[in-house]
Amino acid sequence: MTATNSTTALAHPNIALIKYWGKSNSDLNLPSTPSLSVTLSKLTTKTTVSTNETDVLYINGQSVQDEKISNFLNSLRQIHAIKNIRIETENNFPTSAGLASSASGFAALTTALNSHFSLGFSKQQISAIARTGSASAARSIYGGFVGLQGPDWEAEPIFKPDYWPLRIVIATINTEKKKTGSSKGMEITRLTSPFYQSWVSEAQKDFDEALTAIRNRNFDKLADLSEKSCLKMIATMISSDPPLIYWAPATLACIQLIRDLRNSGQAVFFTTDAGPQLKAICLPESEAKVMGSLASVVGSENITSCEIGDEAKIIQN
Ligand code: PMV
Repeated sequence: MTATNSTTALAHPNIALIKYWGKSNSDLNLPSTPSLSVTLSKLTTKTTVSTNETDVLYINGQSVQDEKISNFLNSLRQIHAIKNIRIETENNFPTSAGLASSASGFAALTTALNSHFSLGFSKQQISAIARTGSASAARSIYGGFVGLQGPDWEAEPIFKPDYWPLRIVIATINTEKKKTGSSKGMEITRLTSPFYQSWVSEAQKDFDEALTAIRNRNFDKLADLSEKSCLKMIATMISSDPPLIYWAPATLACIQLIRDLRNSGQAVFFTTDAGPQLKAICLPESEAKVMGSLASVVGSENITSCEIGDEAKIIQN
């Protein structure tokens, strides 16, 4: 069916509690590690697609060229009837700064394309297709607690958003676009980090144990596993050649604060991704304390607290 009007989808970014870093197949964008995430409320990507004479892309009103998106569309077009399109994407949070804008971006784009061109994909298929653009995007198709593992590498929803009302407090430290994008960074790590094989070989166990911790709502266990997963990933990054150092000094200052809070009895743990931003996951009763502490490092204007968010969806058709 040919569509001429526009379709808008909304998706949220997600934060991995058990991390993915490294690919087993770059062409198919297959991760080498399973991952487990929570989808974030409040932060949103809205993507509108409409048929157009040529492909054009606007991110937050600016015309941009994006190789990842062009490659994604080219490979989809080998199988599916997708005409030239105008894509307009609005993020209500910094783009490409370690806040998972590519996850929500590809989730929103795939959801919008599926509806606009009546492709008839199931949710699982949408997740698998979004994964080819950015593996973490597979997880943003669903709300709540979400897993992504082989052999199919399409995400699966594990628990709904209200299953365990965790809060995710984000301290934004620096919103500059990262110098080494995640795909390039992962390849450098795979080829050069002496710790890469250990990272990959321990990942499934970390995933399975974290799943059990979530099932039992065992906060301390999840905190230990999640911080270790993050730090092991960071260890592979900084031991790469050239080294990939995504943290800023303030990232470490925030980590220290979160560790102190946890040692003083607050239910909180930290995680970071391919960027300097610090994400603190906590129980609602610790939220105010965590926000106040992190504000002492980055200023209260740079603190956002999210609940666990919903699945990607069409908001205008
Ligand atoms: O899906 P990508 O290419 O944006 O990579 C995501 C990698 C991390 O954010 C560092 C970890 C993760 O699992 O989200």
